[in-house]
Amino acid sequence: MGRKILLFHNVILFYVGIVICTRTSKKIYFDVDGNSPCFRRFNATHQIGCTSEENGNVGVVHYVKDDSDFDWVVNNGPHHPYVVLLGSLEFNLKNVTLLKNSGRVNGIMVIHVVENETLTPFPEEGFSPDSSCPNDGYGLYNDDSEFGHCKTVAWNHNGTNLMYQDFNIPIFVLTNQTEVDFLINDCYEKFNKPTENGTARDYPLCAAELKDRMSGAKDSPTCMRRTNVATNLNPDTYCDPLGDKNVAATIKEVNSSEPYPNNSVIIAAARLDSFSLFENIYPSADNHVTGIVGLLAAAEALGKMKPAIKSKTGSKDILFAFFNGEAFDYIGSSRMIYEMEKGDFPAKKRGNPNELTLHKITLDHLSHFIEVNQLGYRDKDSLWIHSDPHSRQSGNISAEIDKMISTIKRISSDVGVKMDSVGSKQPLPPASVQRFLMKKTIPSIVITDHEGHYTNKYYNSRFDIAREINATTPSSNESDAYDIISEQARMLTKVSTSLAGFLFELSTGDPPPDVLEADVNQVNHMLHCFLVTRKCELFRQILPASDMKALGSLYLGDTVNVTEESNCKKSDDKDFVYQYVWMQGPKVANSTTRKGICKKTTANTSLAKSPAFDITDYDWNSGKYSTWTESSWNTISVRIFLVPSPRMQTTILSCGVILLLLSLLLVYGCNKKADILFSKNSVY
Ligand SMILES: *[C@@H]1O[C@H](CO)[C@@H](O)[C@H](O)[C@H]1NC(C)=O
Ligand SMILES: *[C@@H]1O[C@H](CO)[C@@H](O)[C@H](O)[C@H]1NC(C)=O
Ligand SMILES: *[C@@H]1O[C@H](CO)[C@@H](O)[C@H](O)[C@H]1NC(C)=O
Ligand SMILES: *[C@@H]1O[C@H](CO)[C@@H](O)[C@H](O)[C@H]1NC(C)=O
Ligand SMILES: *[C@@H]1O[C@H](CO)[C@@H](O)[C@H](O)[C@H]1NC(C)=O
Ligand SMILES: *[C@@H]1O[C@H](CO)[C@@H](O)[C@H](O)[C@H]1NC(C)=O
Ligand SMILES: *[C@@H]1O[C@H](CO)[C@@H](O)[C@H](O)[C@H]1NC(C)=O
Ligand SMILES: *[C@@H]1O[C@H](CO)[C@@H](O)[C@H](O)[C@H]1NC(C)=O
Ligand SMILES: *[C@@H]1O[C@H](CO)[C@@H](O)[C@H](O)[C@H]1NC(C)=O
Ligand SMILES: *[C@@H]1O[C@H](CO)[C@@H](O)[C@H](O)[C@H]1NC(C)=O
Ligand SMILES: *[C@@H]1O[C@H](CO)[C@@H](O)[C@H](O)[C@H]1NC(C)=O
Ligand SMILES: *[C@@H]1O[C@H](CO)[C@@H](O)[C@H](O)[C@H]1NC(C)=O
Repeated sequence: MGRKILLFHNVILFYVGIVICTRTSKKIYFDVDGNSPCFRRFNATHQIGCTSEENGNVGVVHYVKDDSDFDWVVNNGPHHPYVVLLGSLEFNLKNVTLLKNSGRVNGIMVIHVVENETLTPFPEEGFSPDSSCPNDGYGLYNDDSEFGHCKTVAWNHNGTNLMYQDFNIPIFVLTNQTEVDFLINDCYEKFNKPTENGTARDYPLCAAELKDRMSGAKDSPTCMRRTNVATNLNPDTYCDPLGDKNVAATIKEVNSSEPYPNNSVIIAAARLDSFSLFENIYPSADNHVTGIVGLLAAAEALGKMKPAIKSKTGSKDILFAFFNGEAFDYIGSSRMIYEMEKGDFPAKKRGNPNELTLHKITLDHLSHFIEVNQLGYRDKDSLWIHSDPHSRQSGNISAEIDKMISTIKRISSDVGVKMDSVGSKQPLPPASVQRFLMKKTIPSIVITDHEGHYTNKYYNSRFDIAREINATTPSSNESDAYDIISEQARMLTKVSTSLAGFLFELSTGDPPPDVLEADVNQVNHMLHCFLVTRKCELFRQILPASDMKALGSLYLGDTVNVTEESNCKKSDDKDFVYQYVWMQGPKVANSTTRKGICKKTTANTSLAKSPAFDITDYDWNSGKYSTWTESSWNTISVRIFLVPSPRMQTTILSCGVILLLLSLLLVYGCNKKADILFSKNSVY
């Protein structure tokens, strides 16, 4: 009994000691939830991006506004390591390199509150984290002595290459005004800001902890190998190949039992993706939402002409293709070509000899290629038609390209859109069609909003937002957003009408009918959905299917007359020609309920994953396919807290250690003297 009590005392003493000692050190954390990290990615040879230490990187917060602040952080401030808070204009390669190389900076937070132009001014002179020659090394001109490495045109003048740096410290953007204000006023100004006469403040200081530990390291081959040996006991993945889904749909819906001649398919393409340095901050307004919406609106207009195109003998089919992962060395287009070469496009055969599918499309089927790129700006008041100088070596192809150019110029000028063609000696800008031209010389044009270098000074950056291309409407009221047509929607609708007319004439050989017109309300609505809010009426109508495939189905598919979701399916289990997509549909008049619709469509998704990850024994150094992967991670968090002075911390630690020793001594002593303390016949 006695021993028990003694031990009990001992334990209490120990815990009380700990509680007393640690109470003063208990950190009060303030979570900064409006954050987005820079991730770590790999290609075959390099790692890029950011990571924190396992338990996060901690530093004293310093708000760096001018050169004296830089000096403080890099040279004079006594309380390093720092976590630096930067304004939108100060976050550039030069400043970040300076901070990182000082060895005194443990992390960077960048203010990005787009609603507030005072707090987050946009760099007037431009900013792009991409390189000045995007996708260099994976395009048509890679080994070309004349055009290679952007020798003739450096497309992205404002490219800083920030995206491709290996930072090894965490970098976050902060997006919530309330939290940024708190950080500036209640953390930095209150505790850390040096005094008027330039001396450092006393403890306690306000610190930040940035956590975004990336589990992968080195390069894609290393990371994939480690991931692939993951066992059941250790199911960790270290990285995943970048990529998503391509979306494709045809107008003519030719099935595998029908003839489908060579050179009878026109591809109309746009890319679906862009990037920025920060996860999920891809506003992508000019690059590439204008291209996506421009092409979708053309598809919608042409969808209504389906009977005319199908019934015209000798008409060409039109394949609308939306490529994903293009910003990372053309992942989506490479994949589609790979599948076309294997005969697996639009879908892999399921193995049933009697199955009826859509007719496969191979490179031999392709007759023309038209790609839309960025369409939001104008260069000398005009859009520009680009073509490939090498393709002009063949007289026939050259003539066909010229015919395409003159046709679209004629049709667009009828609609009131100015399009000009660049000189025939200028190479193509970065575009998916380059990957096709590497395999087959197809008459191709690329339509975009710059003659030489990009007019978009925010290419692949967090600043490429709707406001910059006049795609916002003044009101935030949802119903108004559909009634007030933005300036960009008006401009883009005309472009879509031109595209639809051009594709119609290219397919049928007939001039486009007057009724072939893109719908300005649809364009306005789509811009709103992609750029302002995904919680929009259009996306609600097409739920539950995924956005792009569903939009394709909505615009190109046929409505099937069924009222129940369970009846929205094919009737024959060998028929794989169509997809059946059930959508929520429009609201019933004067009611909140919706009337579901069933669409029968050829629109489908296919994998946009680099073939490098599916080819056994792929030679990582061949430079044939994109090798980009993204690291896995566990926790993402930003929090701030007060740190007491080092003396206080030492006191707390010593206090704890002394108590521990005391209690150990006590236990030792008790054990040693147990015979004396407890008689043998003690009752336990
Ligand atoms: C990987 O990325 C780095 C940084 O951008 C680049 O220098 C290198 O050439 C790339 N490697 C391959 C194989 O593409
Ligand atoms: C940081 O960037 C800003 C904006 O470009 C520049 O004005 C400033 O001089 C830079 N600071 C340092 C220390 O290089
Ligand atoms: C924008 O930010 C500044 C600085 O934090 C603040 O003074 C101003 O009130 C903010 N404006 C709005 C509209 O929130
Ligand atoms: C961005 O590109 C434009 C056009 O070439 C150029 O005038 C400007 O100086 C560039 N800005 C930066 C920061 O590189
Ligand atoms: C911003 O942060 C504040 C405080 O944490 C929170 O109440 C608010 O909901 C956040 N705003 C947004 C738009 O998330
Ligand atoms: C700096 O200012 C603080 C008060 O703001 C004062 O206590 C301190 O003595 C001053 N130091 C010098 C060197 O003037
Ligand atoms: C396949 O095409 C043939 C010829 O146009 C047509 O008769 C048949 O109905 C089509 N089958 C399906 C399932 O669409
Ligand atoms: C299509 O072109 C390929 C390659 O040139 C050729 O092998 C094939 O026979 C052609 N098919 C038809 C139907 O002409
Ligand atoms: C080019 O055109 C000529 C005459 O129109 C034709 O005879 C020839 O086969 C064509 N060549 C190719 C490669 O299409
Ligand atoms: C947006 O509107 C402003 C003001 O009317 C104009 O100066 C600018 O050129 C427009 N930008 C685009 C991309 O249309
Ligand atoms: C749809 O089906 C219903 C009942 O099956 C029929 O009454 C109606 O006329 C059909 N509508 C159309 C447009 O075919
Ligand atoms: C819906 O409401 C409007 C006005 O409230 C009315 O004029 C119209 O007839 C109603 N429509 C239906 C289908 O009930």
